Amino acid sequence: MRNLIDILELSVEEIGELMGIADDIIERPEAYSDICKGKKLATLFFEPSTRTRLSFEAAMYELGGNVLGFSEANSSSAAKGESVSDTVRIVSYYADIIAMRHPKEGAPLVASYASDVPVINAGDGGHNHPTQTLTDLFTIKREIGHFDGLTVGFCGDLKFGRTVHSLLCALARYKNVKMVFISPEELKMPDYLIQEVLIPNNIEYVETTSLDEVMPQLDVLYMTRVQKERFFNEADYIRLKDSYILTPEKLASAKADMRVLHPLPRVNEIANTVDKDERAAYFRQAKNGKYIRMALILRLLGLK
Ligand code: NCD
Repeated sequence: MRNLIDILELSVEEIGELMGIADDIIERPEAYSDICKGKKLATLFFEPSTRTRLSFEAAMYELGGNVLGFSEANSSSAAKGESVSDTVRIVSYYADIIAMRHPKEGAPLVASYASDVPVINAGDGGHNHPTQTLTDLFTIKREIGHFDGLTVGFCGDLKFGRTVHSLLCALARYKNVKMVFISPEELKMPDYLIQEVLIPNNIEYVETTSLDEVMPQLDVLYMTRVQKERFFNEADYIRLKDSYILTPEKLASAKADMRVLHPLPRVNEIANTVDKDERAAYFRQAKNGKYIRMALILRLLGLK
């Protein structure tokens, strides 16, 4: 049995295979419509979600399986003080695979020790979000076609944004990827990622506070929301929340074939007027999330 707690548990080849399956699902959905008949996915969401939870659930339904679970900690026995390990142990008696989101870093890893069935990390605190990364990579693959040689800008809350942490680790394995980190001083990329991932892999990177200055170099611009729920004080959030707002005027200096990604939800960081620009790929990205999660479920259940 395998889990997906950290994106690095999947090799570059395995990620390539998952993307191939997801492409095939898009081409031939009927060929997959009852592969998971009789199987159940449990979605244990101790933290709010729209896309991740519903795309997991839609993914399982479209594979012919069923779904059970909860969407807030208050509606589970966590509210009575039950440990994550106990909750997951029990759920693993009822379901064939578990997707879990939790505000505490490491909770899905702990869950995987207690579970009899595969556990997927659907986001743990400010740490990781591997299935968002699969979605992001699949989107880059479909939109641009390759990863080698890309210059990828990460903009916004690089400190608390778990999606950027997982994506950085995944992209560091492709050839000649250059990374540009655009954030306020207070929300810079954590040092452990620079020391443990970028430097050992000789990844070229720059850190800046100016989106305008680097815009013309970028092949991908990964925008993120300032993670309100991870701030210790509201005044800091209010001061930093609108640090970057992407507008059509700002996009004017970007490459014609650049792509804007965002894990969503967006708050203010991308003006609605950007949505009609062909370079805005974030809604297509959200759609891709369902297909790559279908591929992952098949893989972890040993059905593909
Ligand atoms: C992200 C998350 O939960 O980390 N959302 C998502 O899963 N698409 C990004 C965010 O909440 O800002």
